[in-house]
Amino acid sequence: MKTSVSDLAVLGGSPSFTDPLVVGRPSRVDRRSFLRRVERILDSGRHSNGGPFVEELETRLAEIAGVRHCVAMCNATTAMQVLARARGIRGEVVMPSMTFVATAHAMRWVGLAPVFCDVDPLTGQIDPRRARAAITPRTGAIVGVHLWGRPCPAPELEDLAAEHGLDLYLDAAHAIGCALDGRPVGSFGDAEVFSLHATKVVGGFEGGALVTDDEETAERVRSLRAFGEGTRNEYGGTNAKMSEVSAAMALTSLEALPDTVSHNRRNHALYVELLERSPGISVERFDPAQRPNHQYVIVRVDPAETGMDRDTLHRVLLAENVITRPYFSPACHQTEPYTCRPTPFPLPRTERLAATVLALPTGTGTSTTDVETVCDIVRLAASHGDRVVRALQAGPAQETRHDDLEHGSGSDLFSARQ
Ligand SMILES: Cc1ncc(COP(=O)(O)O)c(C=O)c1O
Repeated sequence: MKTSVSDLAVLGGSPSFTDPLVVGRPSRVDRRSFLRRVERILDSGRHSNGGPFVEELETRLAEIAGVRHCVAMCNATTAMQVLARARGIRGEVVMPSMTFVATAHAMRWVGLAPVFCDVDPLTGQIDPRRARAAITPRTGAIVGVHLWGRPCPAPELEDLAAEHGLDLYLDAAHAIGCALDGRPVGSFGDAEVFSLHATKVVGGFEGGALVTDDEETAERVRSLRAFGEGTRNEYGGTNAKMSEVSAAMALTSLEALPDTVSHNRRNHALYVELLERSPGISVERFDPAQRPNHQYVIVRVDPAETGMDRDTLHRVLLAENVITRPYFSPACHQTEPYTCRPTPFPLPRTERLAATVLALPTGTGTSTTDVETVCDIVRLAASHGDRVVRALQAGPAQETRHDDLEHGSGSDLFSARQ
C-alpha cells in the first residue's frame, strides 16, 4: 500500500498494477456454455440471417424489456439509425449532450440534426424541462439516454413527446435490466435500443437490440436491417444483422447477468465506503429501486477541494496502470462535428459534469483487492492534490504511457488484460 505521495507512480514510485486494470473489460462468461453454442452453430451451418440463437436472444431481451418485439442488430449505433429511418422522421432531434457521441452520430448519419439540451446536475440525466425548451416546429423526435446504468426520466419524456406529437426513442446502451417504478427499461417511448458491445454489462462482442411494443416499427426495422426486403421505402435498407456467434455470446453473457450485477454492486458499495471520506471525490450513488446494473462507477472530482482536476487524477491512475475513462468528456457539443453549430442554449451543467466525471474500473474482472488498491491511490492523490500538481508541473518523474482522455468503445480496451 502506498503511504506517501512520493510512492505514486506518476511521481516516481512503482506502478500498483503489472497488468492494466481497465474500465470496460468484458464481463466473465461461462466459456463452456459459449463454446457449446459455437459448436452448434458450426454443426448447423446457420451463421447468420436470423438463426436460432438470434431468435432466442430476441425472445429473452423482449421479456427483459417487457415488450412484444425485439430486433437484434450488429450494434446499437446502427440500430438507432435503422430506427430513425423506419419511423421516417425528419428535421431536428432533441437529445442530451452528456452521452457517448454515438447517440448524436447515429442521428446525424441519417440526415437528422441533433439539438443538445442540458441535464439534471445531480443525476446527469436529460432534464425534461430543458428538452421542452429545445423543441421547435423543426423537431422530429426526442432521444433520451439512460446514463451510467440507471434510467433517465423516461415517463416525463413520454408526456413531453405526446404533448408535441413527437417520436421518443431511448438510448438504453447502458441500462439493460434497469427499471423505473417497476417498469423495465426497454418499454419506454416508441422504441429503445440496447448495446451489446463487449464493454457493456451484457456483451455479444458487438451487438445491439431494438425493443418496442409497436408491431409496425418492429416489422419495418426487421426489414431494413436485412437490405429492406419486403418493404417499399425510399432507402432500400441496409445490412444490420447480428451474427449467430454474437447472439451465442450475448445469450451466454445474459445468463451471467445476475452474477455480473451482484459483483458490480459489491464493487460499487466498496468504492462508496472507501472514498466517502475523501474530500472532493464523490462517488455517484444509485437508487436500488431503479435496479441499477452498476455498469459504471463514476466519481466526480472537485478541484477546489482536492487541489487537482479530473485529468490529473486520470494521469495519476494511468501511471499506476489503471485505465480510467472520462464518461463523457468531451460532451457531444464540445466535439466534432458538433462544435461548428452553436447550441441554441448554454449547457453549463453538462460542461461542469464533462469536466469533472471519471469512470473507475469495475466489472467481473475487477476484484475487491483491485478496488481497495484503486481507492488507496485516489485517496492519496486527492489528499495531496496541490503537491501532485506542483510536482507534475515541475516535470513528471515518470512519463505516463500515452492514453488520451478520449472516450469510446475502442479496441484499445481489449489489448489489455483479456
Ligand atoms: C450511451 C451510448 N450510446 C450508444 C453507444 C453505442 O453502442 P454500440 O457500440 O453498440 O454501437 C454507446 C457505446 O459505448 C453508448 O455508451
